[in-house]
Amino acid sequence: MNRRVYLDHNASTPVHPEVLQAMLPYFSERFGNPSSVHGFGREARDGMEAAREQIAAFLKVSKDEIVFTSGGTESDNLGIKGVAAARRAGHIITSQIEHHAVLRTVQTLEQEGFTATYLPVDGHGMVSPDDVRAALRPDTIVVSLMGANSEVGTLQPIREIGRITREAGVPLHVDGVQTFGKVPIDLDGSGIDLLSFSGHKIYGPKGVAGLYIRKGTKMASIQHGGEHERRRRAGTENVAYIVGMARALELAYAEHAERVAHVSRLRDRLIDGIQARISGFPQIFNVALDVDGPARNYRDLAAVNKTRYVAFATALLRRGVRALERGAWFLSTAHDDAVIEATITAARAAAREI
Ligand SMILES: Cc1ncc(COP(=O)(O)O)c(C=O)c1O
Repeated sequence: MNRRVYLDHNASTPVHPEVLQAMLPYFSERFGNPSSVHGFGREARDGMEAAREQIAAFLKVSKDEIVFTSGGTESDNLGIKGVAAARRAGHIITSQIEHHAVLRTVQTLEQEGFTATYLPVDGHGMVSPDDVRAALRPDTIVVSLMGANSEVGTLQPIREIGRITREAGVPLHVDGVQTFGKVPIDLDGSGIDLLSFSGHKIYGPKGVAGLYIRKGTKMASIQHGGEHERRRRAGTENVAYIVGMARALELAYAEHAERVAHVSRLRDRLIDGIQARISGFPQIFNVALDVDGPARNYRDLAAVNKTRYVAFATALLRRGVRALERGAWFLSTAHDDAVIEATITAARAAAREI
């Protein structure tokens, strides 16, 4: 095989050529500092504010509710620590399967005196709304959950959870980094008060992201400096990348049906080709193979014979196919039929080897 195959497009995606084109002028002729009052600054600011308006329109929120950050990690930190800083003490609810950007943020807050409940998930990686209700306490200051489980693709029951948190008057933070631009979202109807999103999972650049903060949410800034982002996040904004993220989101919406159809078809073809198990989210393909019998759900997936899977992944890598060590393969629109064929050929050969 002479082409390299990368099956972890949930970790990152290549920048879309149209995203790159949209960004380029902001590295050269429109390079100004968006906080500057002169023409150079205004050009940069206009680009950034147009991007903010565009993202806000897609999310059906006000542009003043969007804060730009340096990544999904910072957005998660700002969402959770921002609420914590405004409240100074209290209890946080999250789940055991969150991204480190959330888990380690909550753990750090515990060291500072906050308390936390880490909810378990069921066999599909799903948080139970009843568990959220039971965990709520009078001193709970925020509930933070991811929109979709990034290993098996399970969409969390955010709408039901949002109803519970709204009733309790507790802000709901959703880590939407994996779902942004892929799964339609209704922030109002879902009772979401804070939403983290990031550019590089949808063919935008890395190192740029945002946080939606519902008007009225009690927050303090956690980074100090200038008065950028309406004093909620100090630091000169990464204008070119912000413009790129907005263009990436625009493309994601315009091509949504096409992308889902494309990825679903590739997934089915890959499954037919090497026989494995799938989950509900078309970008995500859980490879359990026949190592220890096919995995059916999250727990089974974790129980897959690791040594044999690693041997398999290593045999795949020798053939130019890089798959995720944990056994979930992530497809995206940037993959094509040739990639799937190459993967099937490599997987069949690798499976014979182990
Ligand atoms: C669910 C989730 N949250 C947060 C992050 C962190 O985002 P970023 O890479 O933009 O810092 C990721 C990235 O993989 C993620 O998948």
